[in-house]
Amino acid sequence: MSNLFTYENHARLLLGMALLIYAVTAHSWIMGAMAVMLIYTGAIRYCPVFHSLGINRELAEQRFHLSLLPGHNPEPVYLFNKQGELVFRNNSARDILPHLRSLEDLHDQNDLTDFGRGPEYAIEGFRDGDKRYLLHYQALENTDLIAAYGFNVTELIEANEEIIETQKELVYRMGEIGETRSKETGNHVKRVAEYSKQLALLSGLSRDQAELLKMASPMHDIGKVAIPDSVLNKPGRLDAADWEIMKTHASIGRDLLCHSDRPILQAAAIVAGQHHEKWDGNGYPDGRSGEDIHIYGRITALVDVFDALASARVYKQAWPLEDVVQLLREQRGKHFDPVLVDLLLDNLDTFLAIRDQHQD
Ligand SMILES: [Fe+2]
Ligand SMILES: [Fe+2]
Repeated sequence: MSNLFTYENHARLLLGMALLIYAVTAHSWIMGAMAVMLIYTGAIRYCPVFHSLGINRELAEQRFHLSLLPGHNPEPVYLFNKQGELVFRNNSARDILPHLRSLEDLHDQNDLTDFGRGPEYAIEGFRDGDKRYLLHYQALENTDLIAAYGFNVTELIEANEEIIETQKELVYRMGEIGETRSKETGNHVKRVAEYSKQLALLSGLSRDQAELLKMASPMHDIGKVAIPDSVLNKPGRLDAADWEIMKTHASIGRDLLCHSDRPILQAAAIVAGQHHEKWDGNGYPDGRSGEDIHIYGRITALVDVFDALASARVYKQAWPLEDVVQLLREQRGKHFDPVLVDLLLDNLDTFLAIRDQHQD
């Protein structure tokens, strides 16, 4: 591997030729040998004397590392030794994280997400300002080096986030349509979304599942779009026949949504279809009971009623808090999953804070 700068080759070649001419005219074997040596090392761009004295060592190392890399890479590339110290980075990597010195520094970069791992590789992501990168680590064969190849995935992630945001927005709007049909306000669906996420986390569901439920639960009453105004807006109590029509909103909602294989819509189908099921089996539309009711359905059932009671509506006042608590206690194990009721009551402050944040 070359350890000379370009100007050094040229200097050696010129000097070597001049020395050769001098050696021939002066009949000096020693000068001749020196001239040949200079020309040779200039031509192969490698000097063993420099090597043994450690001159241009950094340059030689850089050239060596560069020789291991793909010729062109506009994306960042880092090389780390076994101790995790940075031994090389290309120009693009220098621009992105100028202060990086070790693998450790890279790990300190916030938002480092683990995307996958195999015996010889790992893929992680990191953020640099607004930009997001994927890093593919690879142990380099026959060396003690780990290469980290970066890929700028900002646009991909933004496009993905845009899709998710659009889905969320649509889901809220659809949820609001269902709710306005039943004289609810837009903030009811927002509160239900937040409550259900909170309760999902408390009940031990993963962050992803909780987020999914947060997006899906606003659609619980979407089936009401199909309930005639004569029933929905009927003043006073509904008679038995009207009530039967009203109850169909659960299965209508489920049937509207269940044909999609998008996770949000699948979750929404569960929520719409099961938010009136009761723990003791006396709910509708299927009369499911206990854990046969999906956790999404059980959570939404509880927070929907909690919000209906604990928040004021245009047409009614909020219940006093102690009455809400009493009703939930009474319905623990009847209407609602007892574990979920306990979690809600044990963390009542959190739920009341959400309510107060999204008042109508
Ligand atoms: Fe409903
Ligand atoms: Fe509701």
